[in-house]
Amino acid sequence: MNEQTLSRRFFLKVSGAFVALAAVPSTVHAFYQDVKSFLVPPKETLPTTLTINKQPYKVTADTRSTLLDLLREELQLTGTKKGCDHGQCGACTVHVDGQRVLSCLTLTAMLPGKTVTTIEGLADGEKLHPMQQAFIECDGFQCGYCTPGQIMSAVACVNEGHTKSVAEIKEFMSGNLCRCGAYNGIVEAIQKVAK
Ligand code: FES
Ligand code: FES
Repeated sequence: MNEQTLSRRFFLKVSGAFVALAAVPSTVHAFYQDVKSFLVPPKETLPTTLTINKQPYKVTADTRSTLLDLLREELQLTGTKKGCDHGQCGACTVHVDGQRVLSCLTLTAMLPGKTVTTIEGLADGEKLHPMQQAFIECDGFQCGYCTPGQIMSAVACVNEGHTKSVAEIKEFMSGNLCRCGAYNGIVEAIQKVAK
C-alpha cells in the first residue's frame, strides 16, 4: 500500500466521521422538536370581553392562562393573591357573576360576557364594604396575605346564607387557609355582617 492510498483512505475515514458527527445533532434536534411540539402545543390566544370591577375589558388571552394571572400579571390588579396556585388555599378567591371561584383554577377563555369582582371592586369609593370594615374591627387578619381571599369568600358565605352557626361558617370558609391563624376574628367578622 503506497503512501497516496493510505492518505486517501485516511481522508475518507476522517471526513466520514465528521459527516456522522454533524448528522447526529441534527437528528437529535429534530427529535427534540418533535417531542416538544407533542408535549407543548403551540400557543393559542382567544379574544375575550368581560367586565371586571364594573369596567369593561377586551383582552386577548392565552387559552391556557388563568384569571388569576390575567388579574395580577396583565391588569395589575394585585389585590387578589397567589398562594398555592393549585386550588388548595383560597388566597385567589374572586366572584364571577356573584359566585365565589378560585381564580387560579379558572381559565380566562371561559369568561366571555362574565362579570368579575375582585377585592379592589368591593368598596364603594372610599367607603369600605361592611365585610372589610368588620375584618378590621374583629381583628380578622395579621399579615394580611390571605385576607382578600378570606373577605371575598366571607361575602359569598353571607350571601349564600351559610351563617347559621359557627360550625356552618367554619365549614363554608374551610377552603380559605390562614397561616397566621386569624380564624376566630374571621368568624366573628362574618357573624357581625350576617346579623
Ligand atoms: S392560589 Fe388559588 S387556591 Fe391557592
Ligand atoms: S392573616 Fe396571615 S395568612 Fe391569614
